[in-house]
Amino acid sequence: MSQSSGQGVTITGCGSAVPQRSVSNDQLSEIVETSDEWIASRTGIRERQVAGDGESTSTLAAMAARRALEMAQVDAQTVDLILLATSTPDDLFGSASQVQAQIGAQRAAAFDITAACSGFIVGMSTAAQFIYSGAYQTVLLIGADVLSRWVDWGDRRTCVLFGDGAGAVVLQAGNSDGLLGFELRSDGSQYSCLTLPYQSEGRSHSEAVTTQQGGFQPISMNGQEVYRFAVRQVPEVLEKAVYRAGLAIADIDWLLLHQANQRILDAVAKRLKVPGDRVISNMAVHGNTSAASIPLALDEWVREGKIQQGDIIAAAGFGAGLTWGATVFRWGQID
Ligand code: UT7
Repeated sequence: MSQSSGQGVTITGCGSAVPQRSVSNDQLSEIVETSDEWIASRTGIRERQVAGDGESTSTLAAMAARRALEMAQVDAQTVDLILLATSTPDDLFGSASQVQAQIGAQRAAAFDITAACSGFIVGMSTAAQFIYSGAYQTVLLIGADVLSRWVDWGDRRTCVLFGDGAGAVVLQAGNSDGLLGFELRSDGSQYSCLTLPYQSEGRSHSEAVTTQQGGFQPISMNGQEVYRFAVRQVPEVLEKAVYRAGLAIADIDWLLLHQANQRILDAVAKRLKVPGDRVISNMAVHGNTSAASIPLALDEWVREGKIQQGDIIAAAGFGAGLTWGATVFRWGQID
């Protein structure tokens, strides 16, 4: 990729965190008309974690961040920038600065990135630009979401899909470049397929003052449309990112997709001719954790020793917006 400063990006650590409480498909079938058989066969999901008292987007993000910094052997006080990819901040003004305070990264600038389930991929591409330009040496990128706060727990079409969690990576300036290629896309004309929109409850305070206060509606999704979009667009954007990296799909060690549905993973892998044992999947135990799903799966595969230093990973996110994108990167120290 282009490096005006001459410095490249090295991905030196990862970490993750999920809430303590798991909820099984059978437990969900006590609150909506569903079954373990339906959820598992249509999605691959068997359980997910749901945030409880004292657990939030910022606390999970901070926990994942500390673990990533520890693996990278980076002191929080040397972090230049914190990017928090989330659609479910604890505060609409953003939660990155809360994470900054919680981990003691006093020097760091911090801001949120909103791109739903593509947030981590967008964040990785954004983080790299700050390093390529020479502006920053160390960026902490976190994907975290607590969608359990926003789903309609009476809607079986959506509430069975999502889980809460956070994942983080540390990106550092290096002599060679481990971010080999990326490609980002959006199509707002399909916005209505997957939304969590503001809804006004307009109120008249006086004859002169009428305001549009309100809240956010629960998630609504046209599952079949989003499914078709993912299966069509994700292979294409991955091929483009792999091409930009100067590689072929056969050079990829791991395919790391947003963990929305096992059937989507299988269809994309089949189309790209990636063998099943090279496809990372942990949605059975965590469900769809939105912006957290890619770094959460990355962290599990790294800590289990499956992903080795120097492995090439092709990652793709897709979801609301609609947004989608892919990055191709080399894991670990390469200098
Ligand atoms: O993270 C953002 C990206 N999101 C995605 O990528 C999600 C993409 N979409 C999907 O993964 C799938 O479309 C779903 C898993 C959401 C749904 O699977 P589907 O095979 O597309 O099911 P469907 O929506 O076509 O529904 C089939 C039937 C319907 O019943 P009828 O109309 O055929 O009688 C639904 O009402 O299944 C019913 N249904 C359920 N039944 C039991 C829907 N949800 C459930 C449920 N339990 N939880």
